[in-house]
Amino acid sequence: MKIQRFSRIGFIMAAAGSAVGLGNIWKFPYMTGEYGGGAFVLVYLITIAFIGFSVMVAEMLIGALGRKDTVGSFEELAPPNRKYWKYAGFMGFNGIIIMTFYSVVIGWIFYYLVKLLFGLPSTTDEAKQIFNTLVGDNEIIAIVCHTISVIIVAWIVNKGIKSGIEKINLILMPSLMIILFGLLIYAFSLDGFSKAFAFMFEPKWEKLNSEAIVRAVGHSFFTLSLGMGAILTYAASLPKEASIPKTAFIVTFMDTLIALVAGLVIFSFLFQFGAKPGQGPGLVFISLPTILNNFGTLGIFFALLFFLALAFAGITSAISLVEPVVQYLIDRFNQTRTKAVFLTSLIYWVIGIGALLSYTNSWGKIFSLGGKPLFDILEYTTDSILLPLGGLLIAIFVGYELHKDRVKAALENSMGDTIFHIWRFSIRYIAPIALIFMMLNLMGIIKI
Ligand code: TRP
Repeated sequence: MKIQRFSRIGFIMAAAGSAVGLGNIWKFPYMTGEYGGGAFVLVYLITIAFIGFSVMVAEMLIGALGRKDTVGSFEELAPPNRKYWKYAGFMGFNGIIIMTFYSVVIGWIFYYLVKLLFGLPSTTDEAKQIFNTLVGDNEIIAIVCHTISVIIVAWIVNKGIKSGIEKINLILMPSLMIILFGLLIYAFSLDGFSKAFAFMFEPKWEKLNSEAIVRAVGHSFFTLSLGMGAILTYAASLPKEASIPKTAFIVTFMDTLIALVAGLVIFSFLFQFGAKPGQGPGLVFISLPTILNNFGTLGIFFALLFFLALAFAGITSAISLVEPVVQYLIDRFNQTRTKAVFLTSLIYWVIGIGALLSYTNSWGKIFSLGGKPLFDILEYTTDSILLPLGGLLIAIFVGYELHKDRVKAALENSMGDTIFHIWRFSIRYIAPIALIFMMLNLMGIIKI
């Protein structure tokens, strides 16, 4: 099977499109709010710089050297007597599990894009009611929106690497950046901006507990799309002349920048009208629309732009969650792309409906396990167990199983000797230790 190649800019946009997602614009701001701002942001930035970036280089390397689907690349690169490493490639299937709830949230965003067109909620209670009705009562609408999201993603992935994934990212990523930076420029003019800036960048150490640290580390993996084979699968189509460390740096930088800009925009608006930052997952769906109502018609315009950016970010990430399994089915089972896309989409569409119903009042009980909604179980399993495990396998594979000279040859051109050694130390020691520690913590096995 011949894998198509991205253009250089196409690869950067596709990888950045994968990384920049709901994690940046929805999750990062509300987590920052919940964990008290500055200190949380600092831990997040440090993890990205010292662990996230290293693992991103490692994951790209496996794809670029293996040039196959996730399973095939691990198998190809593993030493002859240790071909069992191919099983690590099944991390690609985590994308389907993530998609079961990711697609539901993209569905909510589509709903908001239409709903907010007709006016913003004027009180928090009204905003809560809109959200709770959608999520808790109106399963038909939620299913329709989830289905639309599944169809759009399937349609793009079905067009393949060049004319589907690369093309859509080259359009949506710049659009998203223009929208967010436009909103940032406006936010500059608000009094709330300096408060937002202080909230995000002045560390309040007393707010930093062990939970905040673990969540910051976990989020830095999720936001960079690491530990699942998404970056690996894209890197199998990396153009020959591209430098892995440079590309990984640009992608990491863009992802971080966009999260920070999204945070600054949201908090500027919130602080402008005295709202509190720690509102949890409802921050973007409940607090933001209510606050924007203060701007009158202009507020509707801002809200639409914001949700449009959120939709773009979500779609480009979703594509990268689906593509690894599609590529696997094509490579391994000689399926046509259309068949592979259909099968993959069908699976997460069905489970996604279960996840969605688990939040509704009428079906919640049926779709829960031990009192936990299926939606939360799926999110917890991927976030806290499967992604860190995937990251750990990648770090160990590149750090210990790939021959040092081979790794060095692949990275040498664009990485000096010193940086290479720092990177290798991080991949062999810092990343595995941090990941094991984080997993045990999130699973409640140890507590710091
Ligand atoms: N990084 C995306 C976000 O921030 C989500 C995502 C896309 C992802 N592909 C991934 C997360 C692969 C983990 C692994 O929303």
